[in-house]
Amino acid sequence: MKIFMDTANVEEIKGYVDWGIVYGVTTNPSLIAKTGRTQAEVIPEIAALVEGPVSAEVISTECEGMVKEARELVKIAQNIVVKIPCIPEGLKAVKILTAEGIKTNVTLVFSMSQALMAARAGATYVSPFIGRLDDIGVDGVQLVANIVQAFKLYGIETEVIAASVRNLEHVEKVMLTGCQIATIPTKVLAQMIKHDLTDKGLATFLADYEKSKK
Ligand code: E4P
Repeated sequence: MKIFMDTANVEEIKGYVDWGIVYGVTTNPSLIAKTGRTQAEVIPEIAALVEGPVSAEVISTECEGMVKEARELVKIAQNIVVKIPCIPEGLKAVKILTAEGIKTNVTLVFSMSQALMAARAGATYVSPFIGRLDDIGVDGVQLVANIVQAFKLYGIETEVIAASVRNLEHVEKVMLTGCQIATIPTKVLAQMIKHDLTDKGLATFLADYEKSKK
């Protein structure tokens, strides 16, 4: 499973790029609003930091507007993926953009049916939202597992991005689904490297080293 960062914060991304673990980045209008900057400011900086796919979301809700925005977004850098909402106009836009060779990430996916439709329209990626489903009492990880299994069954090449990841349990459960990518917020990414036994073990090794010094 590849790791994407789910943030629009350039400084946060810089820190983790140094770890060699960041394959791509996903943003959305809410994440961009949190930075206090504009999409036009942050997306070029993120696309320069990360070699892999960087998702930037359209704001239009009509096919024509989405396609126009997408064509502008991909001019920013070769690794831009256009995030399109999973609505009928969105699917029409995905069809047009796919024919033009523009990569798309269909977002706000909450069901198997939506995932199938997005894939058949030609989406490069689909993003089922785990945490938001959990919030309404539906098992989000199970949806990811079901989509991955169905896509495999039918030879669908669209990749699945587990999104709306809220905790370590989500990460570790989606790892077992065969999901190609998880997009992970910085707070959860920071927890992934931590284990009390690592810290205790290291402290012991360093103390023993001091003891053994002649
Ligand atoms: C990523 O593509 C999504 O926009 C993001 O994971 C949504 O996360 P949230 O449900 O925590 O806002």
